[in-house]
Amino acid sequence: MSTTSPAARHLAAPTLADFADAAATLDGVITHTPLDESLHLSELMGVPVHLKLENLQRTGSFKIRGATYRLSRLTEKERARGVVAASAGNHAQGVALAAKSLGISATIFMPLGVPVPKLLATRGYGADVVLEGATVETPLRLAAEFAERTGAVFIHPFDHPDVIAGQGTLGLELMDELPDLDTIVLGIGGGGLIAGVAAAVKARAAAEGRTLRVIGVQAENSAAYPQSLAAGHPVEVATRPTIADGIAVARPGDLPFAIIRDLVDDVVTVTEDDIARALLVLLERAKQVVEPAGAVGVAAILAGKVQAAGPVVSVLSGGNIDPLLLQRVVAHGLSASGRYMTLQIPLPDRPGQLARVSELLAQAGANVIEVLHTRHGQGLQISEVILQLSVETRGEEHRAHVISVLEQAGYLPTVMPD
Ligand SMILES: Cc1ncc(COP(=O)(O)O)c(C=O)c1O
Repeated sequence: MSTTSPAARHLAAPTLADFADAAATLDGVITHTPLDESLHLSELMGVPVHLKLENLQRTGSFKIRGATYRLSRLTEKERARGVVAASAGNHAQGVALAAKSLGISATIFMPLGVPVPKLLATRGYGADVVLEGATVETPLRLAAEFAERTGAVFIHPFDHPDVIAGQGTLGLELMDELPDLDTIVLGIGGGGLIAGVAAAVKARAAAEGRTLRVIGVQAENSAAYPQSLAAGHPVEVATRPTIADGIAVARPGDLPFAIIRDLVDDVVTVTEDDIARALLVLLERAKQVVEPAGAVGVAAILAGKVQAAGPVVSVLSGGNIDPLLLQRVVAHGLSASGRYMTLQIPLPDRPGQLARVSELLAQAGANVIEVLHTRHGQGLQISEVILQLSVETRGEEHRAHVISVLEQAGYLPTVMPD
């Protein structure tokens, strides 16, 4: 995002006093979300791993923290002018609810493909929503123009000290809840969340004479931070589509970048498959519905990209996932974990072939979910049929075993992409 922000003009990180003020403002407005240990992840890492359930926060993400604090600091004159924001979803909901609570009118520009639950919730909080553009860059431009034209106050999603102070309250909460906390792992989009958390916990830890590590995670397909950190300044990168729509940001914010460069210990990236696997683990093991952007910390842990000497907290930063995407991601996550595969097997058009393959699959212990048996298809000989099977498997090894049983019997299965 390249919209010029006020923060770019005065790069001052919030202080402990700012975080305390933000926490006092948010007290009674936001939910105190639970911190749950994940035995599965603890076993994997060899240290206790806790999940901070910000997916259960009001509006379904941590964004309500920064939005509420930022709006609460507006003057009476600014409030009367109304606010405007651009967002692919979670910031929109945060600003819409905060504006409603404070009696401020809000206009939110969102891209056309915004997840339906995020759109309905933002409208439900009473904001005037304008849908325009394919990515969040168009809404950002339109919001800036709207602010210019009408005098409404532009509420940047991450590049403002008050937004960062609001997000940082999460870090102080974690230190209160887990006094021997060693490492915090959380996702990075523009960087407001991790900048706030890092600034808050590092300042408090220094005051207490101890250290604490903060690790950031980006989706490999949209990772502006590793390149920007290497360059020493924010760099706009070419992004590829990611299921983690909440953190798909092409350029770091100026103020978050400066804080992250100084205070964040490491930034790692995860693949789309890593994220899909994490969502599945969170559903199956932790019984938590989490959106892809909210699961990248767990994805990094599962991918072995985080090491820690003491208790770890991974922040589940949002839970606003479209049920249709969830359905697709579950199928993809099962496949990425070797728990599900679709095979195409060419068969000679002779009686008994389907029964033979079924028998082999039963012997190999694979559970058949779906079968398609067709004589019509591109490239098929007149005497050939194609059998397409979706089967449930128990993991990578079992999946390889199923394929080899079919191959040893003379079949030529192809694993289909999902
Ligand atoms: C669920 C979720 N997690 C993490 C982030 C990252 O926040 P930031 O842009 O402040 O880095 C976002 C941003 O929208 C988000 O929606």
